[in-house]
Amino acid sequence: MMKKVHIITYGCQMNEHDTEQMVGVLHTVGYKLTETLEEADLILLNTCSIREKAEHKLYSQLGKLRPLKQQRPDLILGVCGCVAQQEKEQIFKRAPYVDLVMGTNAIPKLPMLLESLDYLPRALELSEIEWEDESRNIFRECRFKAFITIIRGCNNFCSYCVVPYTRGREKSRPSAEIVAEARHLVEDGVLEITLLGQNVSSYRDSSYGASSFPRLLQALNAIEGLERIRFITAHPKDLTDELITTMAELPKVCEHFHLPIQAGSNHVLHLMNRKYSREWYLDRVHRLRAAMPGIAITTDIIVGFPGEREQDFQQTLSILEEVRYDSIFAFNYSIRPNAKAGDFPGQIPDEVKNTRLQQVLDLQKQINLEKNSELVGKTYEVLPEMINRRFPETLTGRTRTNHVVTFKGDESLLGRLVPVKITEAHPFRLTGQLIA
Ligand code: 5AD
Ligand code: SF4
Repeated sequence: MMKKVHIITYGCQMNEHDTEQMVGVLHTVGYKLTETLEEADLILLNTCSIREKAEHKLYSQLGKLRPLKQQRPDLILGVCGCVAQQEKEQIFKRAPYVDLVMGTNAIPKLPMLLESLDYLPRALELSEIEWEDESRNIFRECRFKAFITIIRGCNNFCSYCVVPYTRGREKSRPSAEIVAEARHLVEDGVLEITLLGQNVSSYRDSSYGASSFPRLLQALNAIEGLERIRFITAHPKDLTDELITTMAELPKVCEHFHLPIQAGSNHVLHLMNRKYSREWYLDRVHRLRAAMPGIAITTDIIVGFPGEREQDFQQTLSILEEVRYDSIFAFNYSIRPNAKAGDFPGQIPDEVKNTRLQQVLDLQKQINLEKNSELVGKTYEVLPEMINRRFPETLTGRTRTNHVVTFKGDESLLGRLVPVKITEAHPFRLTGQLIA
């Protein structure tokens, strides 16, 4: 009989993709996914430590699972992902009923670790060794969209960020392996791939040299049957003119760039160790728009970074007005383990952070609505991804610019690129009508 696994995933697309890989690996040793906790023989928490209270969230979630484990001692409870990498054995101390703790590089070892629990009380795996051949055994929820990891880790050490400590240094996958994986996916019916990495723009392949990322995009663009190529995330300092020109030239690369600015003032950018100025960033935005009119630009913002003065914060607001992003993610700064900014002077009180965050969100909501309204009446290619649960007989999909559109349609349209005319704008989504 098949065993059942339930995975709770926190955080970014890298983590979602790690979950897909865990499900794939587990499938080979007889596990299938279950939505219900009570049914599971194995529960895994795939943790994220990027923002505040990550450790707290983990222990409170573990506390909630404790009664289940007490009722059924043969249930295996595991913690993986970034918080596991960071907290290590500490997890067993604070939650002694946990069976398995594994770091961000341990996914291929999962079957072996589970087996070891037959004769050991608990299993811990935190090795730094990178894994080879990621392409095997990936479970995909959606048939026609897939993630491909191209680079893991980060060398940038932004002063607020935990990633270099949880995911280690940058390591790129060989381009031949990536292209082969993309080919297989396309043969399997995939139309859209998203290249993943903390820093895709610093992707390196020895055979491609300095312009490795543009070359990789060219190689992928040549795959017959593939329709859309996306990537996330790139660092503004690595956004070269060559990458912009290549994107503009390649028909399959979607017109969307997620370009995290984090803050609008040079003073704060410097403290953050971001290695670019506001002026450089704005120049990149102008060049992107000049090369690809209609490109969507999105960003991440942190408010309340230590040393952020009122005048600095005003510059974050003004960058929103100046760029007019298609959407943003905004966060209160929070101290993360190992990240240098935790020791910086001028830490900002929570009340100030909250007020600033609200101001950012209010301003952007208005900009979102204005920008989305400009799309009404126009027709875009949409890839319908799923049946909308809230409204029957409607589908939800995305434009090439990554705008979410809901429109009337049935299951037969799933996974087909269709023209949709935008009829209504909302701050965070669009409504449309299928053009027959
Ligand atoms: N505090 C707040 N936001 C953070 N991010 C990363 N680290 C922190 C932190 N310590 C945000 C950044 C990044 C996004 C993924 O998470 O905006 O781009
Ligand atoms: Fe973190 Fe900066 Fe690396 Fe992004 S570039 S993962 S924010 S250290």
